[in-house]
Amino acid sequence: MKILFYDTKSYDQESFEAARTSFSSIEIEYTRSDLDPRTAALAEGFDAVCAFVSSDVGKQTLDILHRKGIRLILMRCAGFNNVDLETAKGYDIRVMCVPGYSPEAVAEHAMALALACNRRLYKAYNKVRENDFSLNGLMGFNFYQKTAGIIGTGRIGAAMCRICHGFGMKVIAYDIYENDSLKGFAEYVSLEKLLSESDLISLHCPLTDSTYHMINIDTIRQMKDGLIFVNTSRGALVKTDDLIEGIRMHKFAGVGLDVYEEETNNVFEDRSDEILEHSTTSRLLSFPNVMITSHQGFFTQEAMQAIANTTLQNALDYAAGKKSKNDVA
Ligand code: NAI
Repeated sequence: MKILFYDTKSYDQESFEAARTSFSSIEIEYTRSDLDPRTAALAEGFDAVCAFVSSDVGKQTLDILHRKGIRLILMRCAGFNNVDLETAKGYDIRVMCVPGYSPEAVAEHAMALALACNRRLYKAYNKVRENDFSLNGLMGFNFYQKTAGIIGTGRIGAAMCRICHGFGMKVIAYDIYENDSLKGFAEYVSLEKLLSESDLISLHCPLTDSTYHMINIDTIRQMKDGLIFVNTSRGALVKTDDLIEGIRMHKFAGVGLDVYEEETNNVFEDRSDEILEHSTTSRLLSFPNVMITSHQGFFTQEAMQAIANTTLQNALDYAAGKKSKNDVA
């Protein structure tokens, strides 16, 4: 089987080449271009394409992939909100993803962001490097005995509940389905109660019609003053203009984001000054209590290994005509 691997970074190629030693029937060709309507035609002559969260796998791209004979899209990530599943189904293109490759990787990053914001670690790091050892502007609050509100308690949210529980926090959670494994770790409450009682709120839902902009000025107004807000899920769960309004209202002690609404436009990879200047992400970065990382929650050695192995196993399952729990279309 021949796979065209889009949006290749050196670390992707290293982890997939290491994993490929156990999947000798698979050939991979790597391209740095991301998958979108302009690059889909490169897939001619391949059996499958491998795409990522930043890829544009909408109708136009799928039309071209279908014409080029592609029958399999291997998403090397958990989320697949960037894939037009209806069109893929219509063309009988199978879409497979890698759910739960390392929930702890993302949950640990969410807690890292929460702590970094609370204890102003980014500011402390810069101050000390400039020989300023004063503590001005660095005061945080104890997480111990405070309330953590976790929205979405699937694999990653559940790992975050356990981490917060380990910090001695009271953990309250909101989800449309309760996760039985969290008995003793978290108490399910209404969204309204979670918003009004939490000192730390962390988002762990997929991006769907029902979660799009779930954090907006109305939900922000219901939050406690001085909380820490973290999003490692998908940027569009948060209405960025409203988040900025909330920051201006001094609602937040700190905001930690690993994901942001403009991510799919590759705002920062293009590095166009004009785009940067007008992006809402840049406006967010102008606030001293906001810390943004570049969608790196998943980025640990263990997660990269698991992603490579599962993606290649997905390809083999497809080739063998096997159904898989990783099928999304
Ligand atoms: P999961 O599918 O195990 O859990 C998602 C949970 O959200 C489920 O329990 C579901 O019932 C809940 N949910 C769905 N709609 C909801 C709503 N309207 N209100 C409240 N809860 C709702 O997914 P998993 O593996 O925990 O991943 C969560 C998200 O994390 C992914 O969809 C993805 O967007 C993001 N992610 C981010 C990464 C990063 O590097 N920053 C890496 C991997 C995933």
